[in-house]
Amino acid sequence: MPDQTPTVIRPVAEPRIVDAVYNHDQHDRIVRLVREKGPWEMILAQHFSSAEEVVATLAGALPEGVTPTFDMFLTPNFRGTLAKYGSCLYPEIEDCFLNQKFLDMVRGYWKADYASPDNMLFNINGACQSHDPAHVDGTTFRGINLRNTPLYMLNTMGKSGLFQKWQSKRAQIVTWFYKGTIGGGFTYWPNGQFAEPARVAAPMWNRGGVVENEMMFHRAEANGPIDQRMPKGLALESLFGADPDVADGWQITTGGEVIQKVPAQEMRLMLHWAAEIFMDYAELKMVMEHTDDLTHDQVFDTFIKDLRARGHSFEVPSDPIHDQGFIQLLTNVYDTGSPRIYPAEAPGPHQQQLAA
Ligand SMILES: [Fe+2]
Repeated sequence: MPDQTPTVIRPVAEPRIVDAVYNHDQHDRIVRLVREKGPWEMILAQHFSSAEEVVATLAGALPEGVTPTFDMFLTPNFRGTLAKYGSCLYPEIEDCFLNQKFLDMVRGYWKADYASPDNMLFNINGACQSHDPAHVDGTTFRGINLRNTPLYMLNTMGKSGLFQKWQSKRAQIVTWFYKGTIGGGFTYWPNGQFAEPARVAAPMWNRGGVVENEMMFHRAEANGPIDQRMPKGLALESLFGADPDVADGWQITTGGEVIQKVPAQEMRLMLHWAAEIFMDYAELKMVMEHTDDLTHDQVFDTFIKDLRARGHSFEVPSDPIHDQGFIQLLTNVYDTGSPRIYPAEAPGPHQQQLAA
């Protein structure tokens, strides 16, 4: 019987929950920027170009006989990028990105000598459903990343635990601004995907977590009044921006038409700052000078050896990265499964459906 014991996905350290993450002035400038430079696109729209594409992706993930519809995926969740590839895209908030306090916090979290800010983004929404049972953020490895390797392979490499030595060390500081009182917390599984979860509950104002979200299952909970979580007229091209008629109000538009007004009280803003970590000077040098990068050959040799050791018999494909049978085998063997235990106050999406 082949061994398919899932790898436990657990962060380098227990997340640290901190208050007063941004100072007053920083928060003011970020919100002003979000109001002035918007409106902002849906998260989904930044990953897919059409509703059909989304549905096609969903098809494989559903039990047989269930026909996917776009509504199964669509949530009024929007995103903007503030910094990328180590550069801040808006000089007026550069101090938030090149943030000495944040660098200290992530170095402390990893017990590392060096950290370098990598990117910063925000998620923004009003009342919003969550279809996400929990996820881990995409991971990369020295020499193997999205520029040369498909996403499924990066995910499988991460889940296998076989390439941890080459995995990029990263930390994030995730900060929430949400005054609402219905849902809207953050659930996370710091002791592995099958253990009890932990939770940051709303309202949360300027409260954040120092985390390693590539190695910790987590989810944003649904929030806001249930009957407003799916505004009528919501589409892939919908946008979130400032309400020109209300000083602190927001609105969602589709094709220039306002489909929902979002009062400040119901707006949930999440700021996501991410840094790359280097334990010491030797590691910094090794990463930057590429002296110990993985190659595709190494990756497949490692997988093949491990599959054999686990008792799987298979033919070695000539083009493993595109071989459907081999991809399927890897996906099955290294599936870590998803969390099964949820906080009573924030049931998972499947449990919500059962209760409804
Ligand atoms: Fe995430």
